[in-house]
Amino acid sequence: MNTALYYFSGTGNSLSVAQTIKDQIKECEIFPIIGCLKQKPVEITAQRIGIIFPMHYMTVPRIVHEFLMEVRFQKPKYIFVVITGANPKLGNALSVVEQYLSKANLKLNAGYFIPMVAAHFPYLKLSKNKQPQKQYQEAKEKVLEISEKVSHLKNEFDKEFTVIGKLKQLVSKETKGKEKFFTIDSGCIRCGYCMQVCPFQNIRLHGKQIQWLDNCHSCFACLHFCSKSVIQYKKLSVGKARQHHPSVTLNDIALQRD
Ligand SMILES: Cc1cc2nc3c(=O)[nH]c(=O)nc-3n(C[C@H](O)[C@H](O)[C@H](O)COP(=O)(O)O)c2cc1C
Ligand code: SF4
Ligand code: SF4
Repeated sequence: MNTALYYFSGTGNSLSVAQTIKDQIKECEIFPIIGCLKQKPVEITAQRIGIIFPMHYMTVPRIVHEFLMEVRFQKPKYIFVVITGANPKLGNALSVVEQYLSKANLKLNAGYFIPMVAAHFPYLKLSKNKQPQKQYQEAKEKVLEISEKVSHLKNEFDKEFTVIGKLKQLVSKETKGKEKFFTIDSGCIRCGYCMQVCPFQNIRLHGKQIQWLDNCHSCFACLHFCSKSVIQYKKLSVGKARQHHPSVTLNDIALQRD
């Protein structure tokens, strides 16, 4: 059975999950959701399909909504979802994916949450009790278990705790317009990493100034991959460690555009 994994990732956590699953399953390919959306509708011919993304504001990121609206499944036999986050069981992301699939008369067969070192500062607090290396290791072990289960087409769901039923409606409001909160401290060396890494090409050099445009998807790649850690998000990031998945590079994140 051929397998296609579709992923979105800002700081590499979800990409690392996709890469690990790919390595465990025969005839498996991975595709970036952003790149796939360049051609609409997105036609998927694989029989086993995985959708892998981070939790954003307790729900599905905006770009994943767009993907779910555009995607056309040709002959799916098994569809699964893996969601990374600080505490991803809190929210409605699984239910949202299920709703999109049921509109197309399709069934979600499995859904899993992977707690990860978080990329967004308010959420870092939720995972502060664990050392990053330990958490990455635990995540990898769970992903290996999931790979085994999905390779045997297991029907299974981690339990989701939807706190507010109407969370889905918050998505656009929550993730649009965040570019205005980014600032740069003194010490920027104009290396251009922030511009290179942004999967949405939303940062440019205007004269000598780094400028955020208005298509920010709040993935936080720019902030975490800045070579001098001088990008700030409101006051929330001041004095806090930057974090991206250790096995994922700036180029890996940037390649999602292709
Ligand atoms: C804008 C934003 C919002 C987030 N919201 C949540 C959330 O509601 N719940 C949660 O558990 N984690 C949340 N996180 C943490 C991410 O889901 C987590 O760091 C994820 O593993 C990042 O995956 P990525 O590296 O593939 O982008 C948020 C992160 C960002 C950047
Ligand atoms: S990555 Fe950081 S140091 Fe490099 S240009 Fe961007 S803001 Fe400046
Ligand atoms: S500007 Fe930064 S946070 Fe916004 S989409 Fe680009 S890399 Fe992600």
